[in-house]
Amino acid sequence: MEYRPSDPVRLNEAGDRIIIIDQTKLPGEILCREIEKREEMCDAIKSLAVRGAPCIGIFAGYCMAVLAGQEAKKQKDFEGFASALAEASAYLNSSRPTAVNLSWALKRQETVIEGCRQEASVSEAVKRLYEEARRIHEEDIAMCLSISEYGLSLLKDGDGILTHCNAGPLATSRYGTGLGPIILGQERGMHFHVYSDETRPLLQGARLTAYEMVEAGVDETVICDNMASLVMKQGKIDAVLVGCDRIARNGDFANKIGTSGVAVLAKYYGIPFYVLGPVSTIDLSCTSGEEIVIEERDGEEIRSLWYEKPMAPEGAKFFNPAFDVTDHSLVTAIITDRGILREPFEESIRSIF
Ligand code: MRU
Repeated sequence: MEYRPSDPVRLNEAGDRIIIIDQTKLPGEILCREIEKREEMCDAIKSLAVRGAPCIGIFAGYCMAVLAGQEAKKQKDFEGFASALAEASAYLNSSRPTAVNLSWALKRQETVIEGCRQEASVSEAVKRLYEEARRIHEEDIAMCLSISEYGLSLLKDGDGILTHCNAGPLATSRYGTGLGPIILGQERGMHFHVYSDETRPLLQGARLTAYEMVEAGVDETVICDNMASLVMKQGKIDAVLVGCDRIARNGDFANKIGTSGVAVLAKYYGIPFYVLGPVSTIDLSCTSGEEIVIEERDGEEIRSLWYEKPMAPEGAKFFNPAFDVTDHSLVTAIITDRGILREPFEESIRSIF
């Protein structure tokens, strides 16, 4: 696995620490941090220093490998090693509830440990956990490229595209999902005009999508979330592209708060609404969006995070759900690394597994 300095998550040379680009500092500062303790790992996910569903999955895979290396120095006996890692996995899994990629990657690593039980070799388990972590990362790179190709096949040169939150290289690996077709198209000489919802309250669109679009040389305009209807009405938008955190079996999906409102608007204005995500984001155990747990975050993020002084009076209450669920009836197509899925989603989703 060859890492690039722009990878939001990668291993250091010794393989005993994870280097992350702290996404809370972007775009003002490109701060790389080295993470080794499990509390730091959990905190990096909770604070959104590492964020975006696929990126959290990649990070979780490496976390388990690094923690296994540490545990191997303390535990010579396989059972003690396995139970310490099961505990670490449960701890990491408690950091954020909505993106399925976290539990998906942790389960993959738990399966690796299970597969080593008969042999009962701690050093072999550590080696395989590192291999699996790199595999998760490499697979995500390939999936993002494939999603980008499928997505690009639905766009025309010159299209105006609206996007919400950030589903680019920082949230995944290399091309990204929601932004992948745009970056790939730009590399091939196509031109799009991207409108990025700033995405209140944490501004992933204004800070991160805009940063990635500038880096890629894409023509881009940041708008406030409440301007999406206007740009659609003005005929500036030919397609909406968004990422996803968990797709249910019926095609309902969770993504950053505000996504479902954009989908309702797109339906009203007759604009195709595309959801882009790897198969690792499909949760077959989830029958519909009703079962998706929505993370609720501190109201202080709304009240004061980006302001010199709080923007609401003392005594005001806040409700800060980090995600919402978009009904599958509003989705034109789900673009995965295994193809473009359309209604009936129950069938098209089943067909790719
Ligand atoms: O809270 P965040 O910033 O982790 O939310 C991220 C999103 O909602 C993304 O759109 C989603 O994870 C897809 S990333 C390819």
